[in-house]
Amino acid sequence: MKINVTKTYLPSKEKYQKYVDKIYESGWITNNGPLVQELEKRLAEYLDVKNIVLVANGTLALEVAYRVLDLKGEVLTTPFSFVATTTSLINCGLKPLFCDIDTASLNLDPQNMQELINEKTSAIVPVHVFGNACNVEEIAKIAKKNNLKIIYDAAHAFGVKYKNRSLLSYGDISTLSFHATKLFHTIEGGALIIDDDKLAKKARNIINFGIESAESITNLGTNAKMNEFEAAMGLCILDDIKELQSKRKILYDIYIKELNKIVKFPQQNSESTINYSYFPIILKDDKERLTVEKALQTKEVFPRRYFYPSLDTLNFIEPKQFCSISRDISTKILCLPLYSELTVNEQKMIIKIIKEQF
Ligand SMILES: Cc1ncc(COP(=O)(O)O)c(C=O)c1O
Repeated sequence: MKINVTKTYLPSKEKYQKYVDKIYESGWITNNGPLVQELEKRLAEYLDVKNIVLVANGTLALEVAYRVLDLKGEVLTTPFSFVATTTSLINCGLKPLFCDIDTASLNLDPQNMQELINEKTSAIVPVHVFGNACNVEEIAKIAKKNNLKIIYDAAHAFGVKYKNRSLLSYGDISTLSFHATKLFHTIEGGALIIDDDKLAKKARNIINFGIESAESITNLGTNAKMNEFEAAMGLCILDDIKELQSKRKILYDIYIKELNKIVKFPQQNSESTINYSYFPIILKDDKERLTVEKALQTKEVFPRRYFYPSLDTLNFIEPKQFCSISRDISTKILCLPLYSELTVNEQKMIIKIIKEQF
């Protein structure tokens, strides 16, 4: 049977059906319905954050964040991420300036930032890649010195704590993706985490077309609302999240134990917890990556090249930029299958195939 890099978790059908019954009773299916409100409340508690605004997906979460903060001009960001980190900027009329990553953590390297900052720079958009915390203190220092906003693309960082505090509470805004492939999902969905109450209110306005009241439109808005069926999925999965993570932890620990002598892993931030979202391995070079990938594919195992290509290579990016570390890493990284329903026997087979290539 085919083993993909991830498998969408579906909660109990009966439990989901109960929520669907409620939706049918009320007839309220979107526009900040009761289940969206309930999920916001429960997530704020679970994640230990002040304000959470649920939206339709993680890409819109980023775009709404840029609008909330009135970003203009150029934005420093990472070339080593999912494409939406960059395209969200371009779609909002902003210019991405790529700053190369740290070879060990694969997160933005603050040492490369200062030289790129100029009078047109308005913000930094780092990514906590694979849920591993960025160097938040250094990034905050640079942002303060240069009067820049920070928007963390925290799409992978659901539930991660940094120094005993939610990692999502760092920066001006953090965004999450609740896509079906994520650890916690709402089919499609996302969220903005915003400490400042006024900005959170502005985000709520922007996600609803900028409409303040029946006769007043106060911001350039969009439609980024989450619907009730999505919120229902989230409410069901939130009940199971601890159990899902403990199953992933078992698999994660086995991968580390079995593979640590033959491949490298990104360096984990020692002050941050792990949420077991992904299991990336770094091979020696492109050739070795291809050998391992082909061998797995032959046995119907499909790891993913997260992230490839490096975003500084995209043909629609102007001006042309070159981030050598990101380009190099993107050719030799693979994410291995990791999801709660992956069996220990399936994992054994994956590990055996990889070991046979060395
Ligand atoms: C780092 C990162 N940013 C943004 C996104 C976009 O999120 P969505 O698919 O919910 O629009 C993703 C999605 O996979 C992601 O991995």
